[in-house]
Amino acid sequence: MERLQKVIAQAGITSRRKAEQLIIEAKVKVNGELVTELGTKVSPSDKIEVEGIPIEREEKVYYLFYKPRGVISAVDDDKGRKVVTDYFQEIAERVYPVGRLDYDTSGLLLVTNDGEFANLLMHPSFEIKKTYVAKIAGIPSKQELRKLEQGIKLEDGMTAPASAKMLSLDKRKQKSIVELTIHEGRNRQVRRMFEAIGYKVQKLRRESFGTLKLKGMNAGEKRELTPHEVKQLRALAQNGEKGLRQ
Ligand code: URA
Repeated sequence: MERLQKVIAQAGITSRRKAEQLIIEAKVKVNGELVTELGTKVSPSDKIEVEGIPIEREEKVYYLFYKPRGVISAVDDDKGRKVVTDYFQEIAERVYPVGRLDYDTSGLLLVTNDGEFANLLMHPSFEIKKTYVAKIAGIPSKQELRKLEQGIKLEDGMTAPASAKMLSLDKRKQKSIVELTIHEGRNRQVRRMFEAIGYKVQKLRRESFGTLKLKGMNAGEKRELTPHEVKQLRALAQNGEKGLRQ
């Protein structure tokens, strides 16, 4: 038995708090009866309707996907471009990506049908570490990388402290590979941070997301998360880094 608001949130309709609001506003029925009590518990066989529409209660699945470049982080695209869910066609559950990577960015993306988990991870206060490897036109100096670490002004405000590491450089070709770890998830953030110090990102890959890493996978591959990995991510989302030590 689970709490009604949790089941509604897990169906991906809304957050748990908004689900509570829907219950209070008498918009939720269980087995055809209006329910306005927040403590109500439901079993897997109970039929739940929100504003007259039955909710889907699928088994929850969690995948780590290595998104290739040239794929949209979405379930469909009006221009007919390749989307993440094209790689999940053999799976019965209706999954979607958690957050997004740019069309041109490759790397680690979580894919699930657990709406509550997705909401939790995408919440702005959720400051999980994400590590990116960027191929840069030019060679940023130590001081320039330091600026990225300390926080840099973008049009949507200062960036939070980050860490940047030069992985390799080619003086002759004037190119370098830099690893950047950030805790935020603003639109095109890594590309914009490098632009702000005068460099263009030519290629970008997300190598890690919290405790998860891409290692050993090829672009286009996916694997299911273990129950432990799902728990670790929940702990990170709810308690920050210290959640992992509990
Ligand atoms: N930063 C970017 O610039 N692009 C991404 O896809 C992710 C982070």
